[in-house]
Amino acid sequence: MEKEFAFDYEHYSTLKDMPEADRQLVESARQACRTAYAPYSNFHVGAAALLESGRVVTGSNQESEVFPAGVCAERCLLFDHQAHAAADPIVALAVTSDPAARECYPCGMCRQVIADTERRQGRPIRIIMAGQTSATVVDSALRLLPFTFKL
Ligand code: THU
Repeated sequence: MEKEFAFDYEHYSTLKDMPEADRQLVESARQACRTAYAPYSNFHVGAAALLESGRVVTGSNQESEVFPAGVCAERCLLFDHQAHAAADPIVALAVTSDPAARECYPCGMCRQVIADTERRQGRPIRIIMAGQTSATVVDSALRLLPFTFKL
């Protein structure tokens, strides 16, 4: 039997139309871009997460001389959060890049790790994927990764 996967998302053609909390988180992600170490790709990614307590934590991509050893901004943030603040769940996660001509969407591996985190904490993560002037927002990692792997 054929089935269909469909999902809702929000799109903001100007960041001014976004809820203030989202805009602030995008601003934190932009600041985090500056902490990226990306001399090989020259593509700087920043991630910022709003925790339930109101605290904001950030991550950025870190590259290595050995290319596959590098880590994306999202996983840098998520693994650090798991190690140091897992009791304070992630409510929203913003991702942005420099250059920012296009909205920055998490790669497949990061989508899996966002979904793992969401499942573990038992509450959805709002994901804000921003570019210089626009953003796409989903209300759960499940929208970005159907048929999520589970061990
Ligand atoms: N990158 C991220 O930080 N997040 C993603 O979701 C995709 C890609 C980084 C990895 C690498 O340092 C650079 O962007 C170019 O792929």
